[in-house]
Amino acid sequence: MFHAAMVPRVRKRSRPAEASVPRHDEVKFEDVRLYLVERKMGSSRRSFLTQLARSKGFIVDNVLSDMVTHVVSEDCQASSLWTWLKDCALKNLSNIQVLDISWFTESMREGRPVAVETRHLIQDTLPTEGPPPTPVAAVSQYACQRRTTIENNNKIFTDAFEVLAESYEFSELEGPCLAFRRAASVLKSLPMAVPCLAATQGLPCLGEHTKAVMEEILRYGRAFEVEKTLSDERYQTLKLFTSVFGVGPKTAEKWYRRGLRSFSDILAEPSIQLNQMQQSGFLHYEDISRAVSKAEARALGNIIDEAVHAITPDGILALTGGFRRGKEFGHDVDFIVTTPELGMETSLIPIIINRLTRQGILLYCDYQASTFDKSKLPCHRFEAMDHFAKCFLILRLEGSQVEGGLNSAEGDSRDWRAVRVDLVSPPMDRYAFALLGWTGSRQFERDLRRFARMERGMLLDNHALYDKTKKEFLAATTERDIFAHLGLEYIEPWQRNA
Ligand code: UTP
Ligand code: MN
Repeated sequence: MFHAAMVPRVRKRSRPAEASVPRHDEVKFEDVRLYLVERKMGSSRRSFLTQLARSKGFIVDNVLSDMVTHVVSEDCQASSLWTWLKDCALKNLSNIQVLDISWFTESMREGRPVAVETRHLIQDTLPTEGPPPTPVAAVSQYACQRRTTIENNNKIFTDAFEVLAESYEFSELEGPCLAFRRAASVLKSLPMAVPCLAATQGLPCLGEHTKAVMEEILRYGRAFEVEKTLSDERYQTLKLFTSVFGVGPKTAEKWYRRGLRSFSDILAEPSIQLNQMQQSGFLHYEDISRAVSKAEARALGNIIDEAVHAITPDGILALTGGFRRGKEFGHDVDFIVTTPELGMETSLIPIIINRLTRQGILLYCDYQASTFDKSKLPCHRFEAMDHFAKCFLILRLEGSQVEGGLNSAEGDSRDWRAVRVDLVSPPMDRYAFALLGWTGSRQFERDLRRFARMERGMLLDNHALYDKTKKEFLAATTERDIFAHLGLEYIEPWQRNA
């Protein structure tokens, strides 16, 4: 038998509430402010000694601050006491007298603070290693509390971390994968290159493993583990296969396990049925694995803009994704298309697709109708994928439409290229959430959601922001509204390259 009553209760002892200055005792020694270290002394003895000193006119603080002049400790090892004191982040530790209980006892006996002698002192025995660390402004563990431009001063480290993160992703080891992505994101936000490992002191998200990789790079210019990964057959093959539009890690893994190692292996394998997306992926592989330039993104913007405004004069088109963050190149171009009339937005994408088809520039189209259902709100599943109407396209872009010409491969004599374009169509009352969600970066989005959940008890996704405490949805018409609801400083799109 097991009764709840038989479980021994642990009673929490409540500490006597003490004021930092004596209330009833008269202060006789204005210039002396004591702090008694509880460790070793114990809380009840500390409380007794505090009352005693106060009754004799001493000021005794309960909290160690820069106001304290005398720290008193009992039976304490100098080294552990000093380690603790240094962790207290005081500004003027050197001005504080760190004293043994003998000074306190003598002072109580005399009824006044006795002169400090060497025998009273608990001296710092710890060797101070190297120069003191330069204090840096605290860097947040959340990317949404950092400003990260496209200028990356630590590419040598972040490229290495990305290789390892990707390799862990292929092995479905989410923990270490995320750890390397977070570490890379922190380094990207720094205003300068990390010159030595000591300079990473105080930075969040850098663990033993990441630091070991950094140390090797600092010393030898490269890290063994990264080199090994890059030359690993499995990594190379999965990287190659997932570079095809429509091929995710799961499919890539399946093909690898079948012994396939190259594109010609895949295309020659009769048992493999490529889906429409993958077929287009192979067909346009050279073009769509080539970066899209800003000028090309602008030209595509013009094409979509024309299409939207041919449908409705008050149609809205917004560039989002990496190009909105100011990137010079991208793997695709992302746009939001919508209209102020609620409900009308779902018809936009099908009409745009029709027009692109008639223009003869639609090379591939994967259209996903809206599954967004407001009546189902509050939905409990906040997720990565959103429910808005959207399409993943491959478009034919003419060189004549691009200012300065196409970003083509050398020796390519065609006057066009294939480009990946994504369109998403949220209802107008969800516009701010969709814009914030599609602007990225992925790491910025991850941390926005994590911050909302962990620090604010809120759920954020591409559709909405929900306050779990108040049990209500928070409305927003701009991105600024969402940052404000979250109690975050506004971060401009070009500062979200986390
Ligand atoms: P992209 O994959 O296009 O990345 O997703 P990017 O930042 O523009 O960089 P490029 O294209 O590689 O240069 C843009 C944002 O859209 C969100 C992603 O989370 C990312 O933040 N997104 C993408 C969605 O929310 N849903 C999707 O179905 C796809
Ligand atoms: Mn993009």
